[in-house]
Amino acid sequence: MKILLLGKNGQVGWELQRALAPLGEMIALDRQNAAGLCGDLSNLDALRQTLRSLRPNIVVNAAAYTAVDKAESEPELAQLINAKAPALLAEEMHQLGGWLVHYSTDYVFDGSGNTPWQETDAVAPLNRYGHSKLLGEQAIQASGCQHLIFRTSWVYGAHGNNFAKTMLRLARERTELKVIDDQFGAPTGAELLADVTAHALRSAIALPQLAGLYQLTAGGETTWFDYARFVIEQARTLGETLAAQEIAPIPTSAYPTPAQRPHNSRLDTRKLRQSFGLHLPNWQDGVSRMLKEVTGKHA
Ligand SMILES: NC(=O)c1ccc[n+]([C@@H]2O[C@H](COP(=O)([O-])OP(=O)(O)OC[C@H]3O[C@@H](n4cnc5c(N)ncnc54)[C@H](OP(=O)(O)O)[C@@H]3O)[C@@H](O)[C@H]2O)c1
Repeated sequence: MKILLLGKNGQVGWELQRALAPLGEMIALDRQNAAGLCGDLSNLDALRQTLRSLRPNIVVNAAAYTAVDKAESEPELAQLINAKAPALLAEEMHQLGGWLVHYSTDYVFDGSGNTPWQETDAVAPLNRYGHSKLLGEQAIQASGCQHLIFRTSWVYGAHGNNFAKTMLRLARERTELKVIDDQFGAPTGAELLADVTAHALRSAIALPQLAGLYQLTAGGETTWFDYARFVIEQARTLGETLAAQEIAPIPTSAYPTPAQRPHNSRLDTRKLRQSFGLHLPNWQDGVSRMLKEVTGKHA
């Protein structure tokens, strides 16, 4: 089994290097050219050549344009990387009769209501990033290629930049933090995403009717405000000295950003859990573990 991993140094890509290793021979690329191979999703011709010369059985695409606010001023680049490149990967893997694994986002939804979104619910992205990711999903689904698409939310990992690490840094530097308390979702660890990907991929190869779109997040739900409080409390428990004395909840309207974000990012994960017989641990478990890693307190 030959696996091509794209985006090997992103949060999820980094963990996939570990989790996919037992499944087969892996060629892992970032956007730099290596040994005549191209993993740059903005270079479609070279990417196509790379697939044709490697002829992998599986492509796992962890690369993406993930700068949500910047995408508002670079919509073409976001679409090139998040929609056109995945479409090309799907087309080539369809030709090869292989599998494509891809990741998408809660930002395909408009965030209305307060119940978890199901895979079949109507999509209506509020921002350019979400729109580009939706086009990527749709292109893969239309291609006829065997695929697994995992929609996830609020990704963090010990390797890479994310909200939890930003809160930790700000809590060291500032006495007061203001954090949004009217957006709801589930922080999801890159480790969990990678491990579930490996399990699901093995199952789907054995049982191809499992191909499809799934929502994959950690269990439970929270707000950015409660998530920040949890990070800071946990860090203190681990012995971190933090300057932050007060964490104040603020509404989204008090923190304007170029990209609008959904209030309700809850994703229903029942389809994934039932199809693959998996349990998704509560978000606090993975965040606590990541904090131990980044603070160096493993006890
Ligand atoms: N992060 C989240 O909160 C979140 C939420 C929902 C869904 N997702 C989805 O989950 C997946 C993984 O996200 P992540 O958190 O691991 O993202 P990440 O840490 O930002 O990693 C993305 C990777 O893609 C690479 N990349 C960017 N442009 C590229 C290009 N033109 N060619 C090749 N590689 C390129 C980046 O490389 P550079 O570092 O060199 O730019 C980076 O290594 C993505 O599909 C994302 O849309 C993420």
